Amino acid sequence: MKAVRFQSPGSPEQVLTLESIETPRPAHGEVLVRMLQSPINPSDLMFVRGKYTIAAECPATPGFEGVGIVESSGGGLKGRLFQGKRVAVLNKRGGNWAEYVTVPASQVIPVSSQLTTEQAATFFVNPATAWVMTQEVLRVPRQEWLVQTAAGSALGRMIIRLGRLQGFKTLNIVRRAEVAEELRGLGADHVEVFDERMDSQELVRRIHSVTGSAGVQYAIDAVGGVTGSAIVESLGINGRMLAYGTLSNEPLSFSPRTLMTVGSQVEGFWLGNFMSKRGLLFKLSLVRKLTQLISTGVLGSEVASSFAPEQIREAVKAAEDSSHTGKILLRIASA
Ligand SMILES: NC(=O)c1ccc[n+]([C@@H]2O[C@H](COP(=O)([O-])OP(=O)(O)OC[C@H]3O[C@@H](n4cnc5c(N)ncnc54)[C@H](OP(=O)(O)O)[C@@H]3O)[C@@H](O)[C@H]2O)c1
Repeated sequence: MKAVRFQSPGSPEQVLTLESIETPRPAHGEVLVRMLQSPINPSDLMFVRGKYTIAAECPATPGFEGVGIVESSGGGLKGRLFQGKRVAVLNKRGGNWAEYVTVPASQVIPVSSQLTTEQAATFFVNPATAWVMTQEVLRVPRQEWLVQTAAGSALGRMIIRLGRLQGFKTLNIVRRAEVAEELRGLGADHVEVFDERMDSQELVRRIHSVTGSAGVQYAIDAVGGVTGSAIVESLGINGRMLAYGTLSNEPLSFSPRTLMTVGSQVEGFWLGNFMSKRGLLFKLSLVRKLTQLISTGVLGSEVASSFAPEQIREAVKAAEDSSHTGKILLRIASA
């Protein structure tokens, strides 16, 4: 089979190649999935660079998310039940950028025929993170402000639409002025343009002028660095910020006194950790909720373009380029 691979971590555009390797065989409890499409997410690119939470065992194939058809099972009840079904593949080890992949049957989710292949390829990671952070962890009340960074990302746009639906207000921080109008069109209540070279105290002042001088109660940050640190500074009494991404590759930096004075909290959020502590009923109800919210567009991902695996270097270049809106997909096979 054909698989995208890298021999050692490095710049995705330089190290990724398409190779012919042996098709894997599913072990007991695993399924063999014929992959259809897989998105190029920031976590995949970090994995290739050697900067993700999980280190690659090289040579390795990236791809944590995607959609495919279960071809066969290595044995076990779930695997047999899923045979022939179209499933979202949540591959914790990476490996979805290939014609076939083996994963534990517990890491595939049958996807409703209501959803297109593109929607199914981006079914879980971002939609579940948007829902869980705002509705299960922070439980942002109606009429309250939620401050978010990297608001122009696929996930940031889901949060804006979710805010409209659930009744919380979003204060959105983006680094490019061009994105602001688009986000207002999606229902953003307020947009601030800020990049890492600007004065962080000025950002804190601008945030307080919108949310009130008592400070922010709810925030989520995917950037870190100067931007994320400014959000920490803007938190009010008992305010909470979830740190869920490292897009700037820079650490958060603030005095402990910032937290001490107002009793604010900075918490890490990783969907994998959150889900590993949840039972089957919660997971089933989450899948139902996501299916409904994706089909109505609230948690849908816009797709910018799709590439064949042979074009992997162009595809990762496009994924890292700021001038487009929406996800870049790898089109591995047709249904
Ligand atoms: N913790 C979790 O469980 C979890 C789950 C899902 C996603 N995430 C994280 O969520 C974030 C968004 O994911 P996504 O798939 O929605 O991303 P995406 O659609 O690929 O968009 C990436 C966004 O990041 C922005 N960005 C990149 N570098 C930046 C920087 N240095 N400063 C400010 N903004 C920057 C880009 O802004 P431009 O438009 O200006 O280029 C773009 O809007 C990622 O960090 C991802 O790892 C975390």
